[in-house]
Amino acid sequence: MKDMLKIGIIGAGNMAEAIMKGLIQAGMASPENIICSDLSEARRHYIQQNLGVTTTSVNKDVIIPSQIIFLAVKPNVVGKVLDENKDVFTSEKMIISIAAGITLDFIEKHLSGEIPVVRVMPNTPALVLEGASALAGGKYATDKDLEVALELMGSTGKAIVLDEKLLDAVTGLSGSGPAYVLEFIDALASGGVLKGLNKQTALLLAAQTVLGTAKLYLETQEHPAVLRDRVTSPGGTTIAGLAALEAGGFRTSVIEAVSKATDRSRELSGN
Ligand SMILES: NC(=O)c1ccc[n+]([C@@H]2O[C@H](COP(=O)([O-])OP(=O)(O)OC[C@H]3O[C@@H](n4cnc5c(N)ncnc54)[C@H](OP(=O)(O)O)[C@@H]3O)[C@@H](O)[C@H]2O)c1
Repeated sequence: MKDMLKIGIIGAGNMAEAIMKGLIQAGMASPENIICSDLSEARRHYIQQNLGVTTTSVNKDVIIPSQIIFLAVKPNVVGKVLDENKDVFTSEKMIISIAAGITLDFIEKHLSGEIPVVRVMPNTPALVLEGASALAGGKYATDKDLEVALELMGSTGKAIVLDEKLLDAVTGLSGSGPAYVLEFIDALASGGVLKGLNKQTALLLAAQTVLGTAKLYLETQEHPAVLRDRVTSPGGTTIAGLAALEAGGFRTSVIEAVSKATDRSRELSGN
């Protein structure tokens, strides 16, 4: 793939930076094969200095030489970018949009011709190449296109393909999820502080516990309840803690958080 694909990125913000880093580190694209655009000169300079990719202020200069074009601008700018560049988006190119809430139908309506489009819902841990992304293909995206998009997004973490109608639930779970997990880490650490640990130590222990436990699940693929029960001895410390979580409605709160965020995502994207 490395020698074949020319990749263009419109909008060189945080997410674009994560994607470029992932592609380069995974060896899926070399900096010479990537070109990205941004309105801000400072941002272009930063990207060029740090990633060694070519930058421009002209979106057409990104689209014309590229086979894959990432749309990484804010959602409210997507329509304008597509309208201004309709003439250079051709059917041999694939568009991968990461704009939250912007539907495949919206993008396809702003294009002319049968252009493959893939919509992605990424999350911020992509910045450290541990993201979780869900992808959905548009009317003209083939299985091969989805495979390529999966491989590209996979360079920033885990990536899966889903039906577009499930992307609001993905937004509620993994899109907004980092905020819930950070809330949990902070609360876990506060518990430690209450019992005498200093905050820095408590945060380190809390964050490493979340990281390690997630890894344990991902690597063993054992059900979380099985892993949990293995560390919960009768009359021990863990069951005392779990009982307190239960009394506080922990599971219900988390389920409700995902549900509310999903509803809000639906509201915002007009679904
Ligand atoms: N960050 C997240 O957690 C997250 C998660 C899921 C999805 N997303 C999606 O990812 C996309 C990018 O998010 P982000 O956080 O990376 O945003 P961001 O940091 O604001 O990046 C967007 C960049 O695009 C530039 N830009 C604006 N108009 C442009 C145009 N016409 N042509 C070229 N570049 C233009 C902006 O420049 P100026 O600042 O100069 O306007 C900015 O540098 C959004 O659509 C968002 O919905 C983000």
